[in-house]
Amino acid sequence: MNVALTGATGFLGLRLLRLLLERHGSLTLLTHAATGDVLGRVTRFLGVTGAPERLIAELPTRTRVVPTDLSRPRMGLSAARFGELADTFDAIWHSAGSINLEGDLASLRRVNVEGTRNVLELAAAGSRRPVIFHVSTAFVAGVRREGVVYEDELDDTHGFENAYERSKYEAETLVHAWSRTHRRPVVVLRPSILVTDLPPHAELPRHPLQVMDQLVGDALRATGLADTRRARADLPVARLVGRRYGHLNMMPVEEAARAMVRLADREPSARVDTYHVVHEHDVPVAAVTELMERLAPLRTRLVEKRPDDVSALEASMDFYPGITPYLSHLRRYDDTRVRTVLGAPRSLTRVDVDYLWSGLRPTCPAPPAVASAQARH
Ligand SMILES: NC(=O)c1ccc[n+]([C@@H]2O[C@H](COP(=O)([O-])OP(=O)(O)OC[C@H]3O[C@@H](n4cnc5c(N)ncnc54)[C@H](OP(=O)(O)O)[C@@H]3O)[C@@H](O)[C@H]2O)c1
Repeated sequence: MNVALTGATGFLGLRLLRLLLERHGSLTLLTHAATGDVLGRVTRFLGVTGAPERLIAELPTRTRVVPTDLSRPRMGLSAARFGELADTFDAIWHSAGSINLEGDLASLRRVNVEGTRNVLELAAAGSRRPVIFHVSTAFVAGVRREGVVYEDELDDTHGFENAYERSKYEAETLVHAWSRTHRRPVVVLRPSILVTDLPPHAELPRHPLQVMDQLVGDALRATGLADTRRARADLPVARLVGRRYGHLNMMPVEEAARAMVRLADREPSARVDTYHVVHEHDVPVAAVTELMERLAPLRTRLVEKRPDDVSALEASMDFYPGITPYLSHLRRYDDTRVRTVLGAPRSLTRVDVDYLWSGLRPTCPAPPAVASAQARH
């Protein structure tokens, strides 16, 4: 079976690549021409994550790297090369994308929507009629902060928290239209927020919580409040708009990738099969603010609406629309389809503050847990 993977150098793609190499003899990596050193990056990931030496040694012979730009017509390839590639594949995993939560719609559309269109064109051109595994996001549900989101739902009636969500929604609608037109199956995999307890490493791609960590640090530095030597009582307080009983779904990236490749073992239906690849338990928003307090010298307080007298720190910590809105989420994702195929989740990792901390601060021990600030107010 000839399998292609886009986004193989990404946070999720690297995990998919490792698992796909356990199942298939070889893989074609449709990589990002603009960045390069693909095998070096993959090798370093495999080394850091303790992959068998044999797998690392075999990497150059078991993978074929095809530099592309997914956002360009025919992925930036010549017509001949595109046609030749298209005829090679039995399955295409599409994990590439831009996850820039603060990005503008035009740039996000180029990668997420046009990129998906070009992957679909590759699949349409292929004589072997490859199955597509399209990595979407549970956040295509948009500004629907409460209730239950079902795997078959896809609509824009609630709008979107940000351009990233909209671009991923638009990509999914393309997938549905393509499947109807070509009468071909597509498997849509919708993970929630992907996290890891693997300590950050210069060789590894950044993940969304690292971005949050950096933004909080930047906000403190920009307002001259980054001094960590203050007594706790003297730490600056940031009032953040959010729900005290809010919760978010966070899925360990390794488990998400494992679930995805297991779902791919199932014969797809003739249509679009969508799966919520989510954790059984949500993470309370209060745990997220507690994490911020461990990471940075500040205290947080969740408030219902933006105060009229925002401080300089609060103004620079209002990461709207990429992060702030999610502190008000309390919806759940139904994953009946996943459970039907894979059974009830077994031994899922507990995602809590200690787990998330491990994925952000490798070298220093976690400070003693403090009662979260909002609990005192
Ligand atoms: N991370 C999450 O929490 C999360 C949650 C839900 C869904 N998802 C979805 O999961 C997928 C993978 O996300 P991720 O976390 O792995 O993202 P990531 O770490 O940012 O990786 C993105 C990948 O896409 C590639 N890429 C970007 N632009 C490209 C282009 N124009 N042409 C070809 N390749 C391009 C990147 O290559 P270079 O690195 O070489 O630029 C990289 O391999 C995305 O579709 C995302 O929407 C992610």
